[in-house]
Amino acid sequence: MPETVIPETVKAAGATPAGASDEASAARAVQQMFDEIAPRYDLLNHTLSMNIDRLWWRRTARLFTHILRRKDARVLDLCAGTGDMSVALRAVGSDARIFALDFSHQMLHHGLEKYRRKNIQAIEADALHLPLGPACMDLVVSAFGFRNLANYEAGLREILRVLKPGGEVGILDFSEPQGLLGPLYGFYFRKVLPRIGTLISGVRGPYAYLPASVQKFPAPQEMVKRMEAVGFTNVSWTPYTFGIAGLYRGTKP
Ligand SMILES: C[S@@+](CC[C@H](N)C(=O)[O-])C[C@H]1O[C@@H](n2cnc3c(N)ncnc32)[C@H](O)[C@@H]1O
Repeated sequence: MPETVIPETVKAAGATPAGASDEASAARAVQQMFDEIAPRYDLLNHTLSMNIDRLWWRRTARLFTHILRRKDARVLDLCAGTGDMSVALRAVGSDARIFALDFSHQMLHHGLEKYRRKNIQAIEADALHLPLGPACMDLVVSAFGFRNLANYEAGLREILRVLKPGGEVGILDFSEPQGLLGPLYGFYFRKVLPRIGTLISGVRGPYAYLPASVQKFPAPQEMVKRMEAVGFTNVSWTPYTFGIAGLYRGTKP
């Protein structure tokens, strides 16, 4: 098979918050940002998405029921934050061992009650340096976290490394809707949302970073190519809610 070539223009390594000069400083800025907004994160999330986020988490979890209902399955929620994706994974009747990993101490701290109630093990660690051996997970899911990684390719390689052969990945993240909705949504996302976010969180910055990070994130066709290039098979992207968000899926051969 010919190697997939990623054009120079879209080779951005990963998220680059304002002021970050390299991957290490980008990661530190992201971590600090989430530590700061953690106390109001859940409230903001549901307000700004008008609760559609709950539908997206549930829809994603349902697609992996065949793995989640297996008692012996091990599942990693990557960039789990305060745990709503993890809870949705458990809610499909899952008996699996679920691990919720994040590098923001505060985000995990604010999700601890959810993790305890749902028997989910929280791990404080960096998604680019997982403290896990190779081929130990049946499923890796990441909701609205992958886009924040300082190096997307390194993130994909790490996911591939920890998946068992035949294991699956699901990456749920924002995208930029096309067509008529595009400009309207663009106005809400770039102008209205950062203002409401700053107002509720009391923290300036993160909610300007959000639209910027979505703009920087590869478009769906490009992301699919990147997943194939690192070695995933059966790669697909399914738009959610007119393409405001979408789910990338892939399998480790
Ligand atoms: C937008 S939140 C999403 C949280 C949760 N998955 C959800 O759907 O609500 C993004 C999370 O990714 C985490 N994150 C970003 N980069 C990370 C990294 N390199 N390693 C671990 N966690 C990371 C942040 O700390 C933050 O909690």
